[in-house]
Order: sequence, then structure tokens, then C-alpha cells
Amino acid sequence: GTVRTLNFPGYFFLTPPLYFIPDLLPPGVCSLLNPAAIYANNEISLGDVEIYGFDYDYTLAQYSNLLHSMIFNTARDILIEQFKYPEGLRKYEYIPGFAIRGLHYDVHKSLLMKIDAFHYVQLGTAYQGLKPVPDEEVIEMYGGTQHIPLYQMSDFYGKGPSIKQFMDIFSLPEMTLLSSVTDYFMTHNIEYDQVHLYKDISDAIKDVHVKGMMYKWIEKDMEKYILHGDETYAVLNRLVNHNKKLFLITNSPFSFVDKGMKHMVGKNWRDLFDMVIVQADKPNFFTDRRKPFRKMDEKGSLHWDKISKLEKGKIYKQGNLFDFLRLTGWRGSKVLYFGDHLYSDLADLMLRHGWRTGAIVPELETEIRIINTEQYMHSLTWQQALTGLLERMQMYQDAESRQVLLEWMKERQEIRSLSKNLFNPQFGSIFRTFHNPTYFSRRLIRFSDIYMASISCLLNYDVNFTFYPRRTPLQHEAPLWMDQLCTGCMKTPFLEEMVHIR
Ligand SMILES: *[C@@H]1O[C@H](CO)[C@@H](O)[C@H](O)[C@H]1NC(C)=O
Ligand SMILES: [Mg+2]
Repeated sequence: GTVRTLNFPGYFFLTPPLYFIPDLLPPGVCSLLNPAAIYANNEISLGDVEIYGFDYDYTLAQYSNLLHSMIFNTARDILIEQFKYPEGLRKYEYIPGFAIRGLHYDVHKSLLMKIDAFHYVQLGTAYQGLKPVPDEEVIEMYGGTQHIPLYQMSDFYGKGPSIKQFMDIFSLPEMTLLSSVTDYFMTHNIEYDQVHLYKDISDAIKDVHVKGMMYKWIEKDMEKYILHGDETYAVLNRLVNHNKKLFLITNSPFSFVDKGMKHMVGKNWRDLFDMVIVQADKPNFFTDRRKPFRKMDEKGSLHWDKISKLEKGKIYKQGNLFDFLRLTGWRGSKVLYFGDHLYSDLADLMLRHGWRTGAIVPELETEIRIINTEQYMHSLTWQQALTGLLERMQMYQDAESRQVLLEWMKERQEIRSLSKNLFNPQFGSIFRTFHNPTYFSRRLIRFSDIYMASISCLLNYDVNFTFYPRRTPLQHEAPLWMDQLCTGCMKTPFLEEMVHIR
């Protein structure tokens, strides 16, 4: 082609062919993050922590994804058999990797979508049934904006009047079932009430938990469903050997937890714990003073006596955090509590009670593996280079420059979609939209001091280790290379030795 004269300086540097990109990456930047590391939002010194508390499901017990298809199939069959939904739904199978955690669902619009920290829908991530909704339609649905008003989603636990947030790991089959049934109704042009649909699916999924079906599957085949039990054993033993006190607060029933813990830790597992609280009804446990503790024996029989102290080796049902604090005196930052549910496990503790909190986010493992790939690093670097060009060159508005700017914008959009799809083709990463943290991320940062893929990550750190978060520059601050390289997640201890963990 012809060499074009350009109005802005430096154009010739600005469209490097893709093979230049590796030169833009500092050496060793790929594979730098360790999926078994612990990431800090807030500085915390484990040396100050005397008491460790744990949730059970998806915190002490990690479950295999096989559970998702079991929950999906069972809830689907409940819909057909008990709620009399069409027999045609049976052809829908669980789609692994369709949904991600933290999505919002607009009940009245049957819209499943990813929302960012500023309450904007990430365009390209709104689904009705199993199909994406074009961006213009999404904007149209919300009155000419992609912003979701706060009052619709304002409930603290993600349960606004018309928009719900799916936060637990069990909700992956629930979202997939919602989308499948919606798909069936839409493709068959069947009219249905969206509110009934949401309620029925939510009830069917609840039945799978509450009626104990899920507990039975897990109990019947622990080997298959419970992952990394030996690591849970190692974590708990190590803490006790360093004179830490342990307690457990779970919503699950004792018989189920007991079987799982026996499988992972051994029949004397309760010797490790100072306190075991089952059927705690979190998050109400943290906010509601009314329900007293009840003593329970191993057979599940409840005692009627008034609880005036919590004794080691005993099992308690229900109760509330206010009594717990009064009876144990375990206050403030000497307690570190781990859970996988940002709202039910961690939010109240962080905001009201001043315990330190650790979030278990199993998705970190796969997301970090993706971030570590050359492909991801390359597209991200190129995307940021283009973004910088757009920022700097935007004032050149003659026809020819505008053409170039348009091409860059198009290319940037393509790269952004490409990077998104590396995580999940429908919804991308659970932590980021194109240029913002997700709603989930913002909550994660607000409610947890540290976060990690599994509690076994604790094994990689000294019991007196202090976690220092990376000093992320605010927008008006200058970035320092030292901040980026020296503190926080980049400086992973025992990087070599940690390879064996997974
Ligand atoms: C942790 O710190 C405490 C108090 O300073 C000390 O007694 C203990 O030996 C330390 N533990 C380890 C494993 O370094
Ligand atoms: Mg849990």
C-alpha cells in the first residue's frame, strides 16, 4: 500500500505487528502467580490470631463438580414430577461451564447477567435462557441505560425485590436450570410467569438440599464427592499443634458433617475443635439475638437445659453470635473465620463484629492458571497498549485519523472479548468485567481480609506469617515498580516448594 501521511506523531510506532508484543512483557511475567497462594486485601498477621473458625461446606469440605449435575438433574425432575413442568425439559442436561458465581438475575426480565462494581451490566454478558441478548436490547430494557438502579438490588444479602445475586457454589446448577427452562419456554413460544418460574426453581433446588438428597449422595460416596480431605486434615492438625483454638459453625446437620469430617480427619476429629455448632442458620446467626444455643448429643437428640457455657467436645445447635461472644470472650481480631459465602459467612463478621475473615474462592485456581498463560498476558498487554493510544490520540479528529482511531477501537473490543472468553465464553471472569472489578469482586474486597482457593493454601505459610497487600496506586497516585514487585501476591513465599501442593 501507499504510505499515508499522518497528522499525529509516532503513528509508525503505533501499529506493531503482534510479534512485538512479547517484547512489551517484563521477563518472567507469565506463570508468576501461584494458584496456591493467599491474597491479602488487608494487612493481617497470623501471629495475632489465636482462634480459627470455619464454615463446613465448600470451606473444610471441597466438593467435586459431579455434584452440580446431580443437583441439576434432581431439581429438573422435581420440576417435572412435582411442579408439573413440561416433560420436554428432560432433554436438558447440566452444562458445565455455562454460568459463573456472582451473577445477577432479573426475575421479571428472565435476564441472567454480570454486573460490575458500579452497577453496570457488562455488555455481551446478558443471557435470556441459553442465548445472549444483544446489547441494544439490554439497554432498551433498562430504559436506555445499562445501569441497574440500586433500589432493585439493594438488599444486603443480594436479594433485592426483583434482582437476585447468585453467590454460593450450589447456585451454579440453579442458574443453569433457570436458563434451561427459560430456553425451553422461549423456543416453544410458551407463555409463562417469570416470577413463578424463579420461585419454583429456587424451591426445587432447595428441596435437593433441605430434604437431604444431596447429603445422601455425598455420604454414600465420600471418595467421589469430597476432594482433598487429607489437606483439610493437615491444616487443622497444624493449627492445633501450634496451640490455636478451632471452632466450626455450619448450617448443615451434625450427622452429615460428622461423616464428612470422619472421612477427612478421622474418627476423633472433634478433639481438634473447641466448639462445634451445627444448623446455625447463617446469616441470621450473626444478626439475630433471639435463638439460644441448644446442646445436642451425637445421636441428634436435643437437650432442654439452658446453656450458660460452651464446653469443649460438645455439639451445639443453632444459637447466635451474641451469645457466642458472651460465652467465649472470643472478640475482635484474634479470631479469623473462613467461609466461602461472602454474605452468609463473612459480611456481618467484618462489618459488625471485627473478626478477621478469610474467603475461600475455589475459582481462583483456574482463573490464575489462565492469567498465567502467555496468550492471556499477550492480549492484556496489547489491549492496554491500544487503550493508551486511544487515550493519547483521541484529539486528532480529521477524517483519516478518525478512521485509524475507529480501527483501534474495533481491535480493542475484539481483544477484550477474546480475553473475556478465555475465562468463560458466556460471562468471563468472576472478578472482572472489561474495565472494572465485578460486583462480586467489590464485595470480596470489602468483606474479606484474605482470600484463597482453598484452606490448604494455609499450609504454605508460617503460622506467624504476616500478609501485606500490594499497594495498588489510586488513580491520582503514581505507580511505583517496587510496589508492584515487592509486596502482595507477587512475592509468594516458597514458590519452588509450593509446586507439589496441586
Ligand atoms: C510465633 O510467634 C510466637 C510469639 O512470638 C512464638 O512463641 C512462636 O514460637 C512462633 N512460632 C513459630 C512457628 O515461629
Ligand atoms: Mg459454605
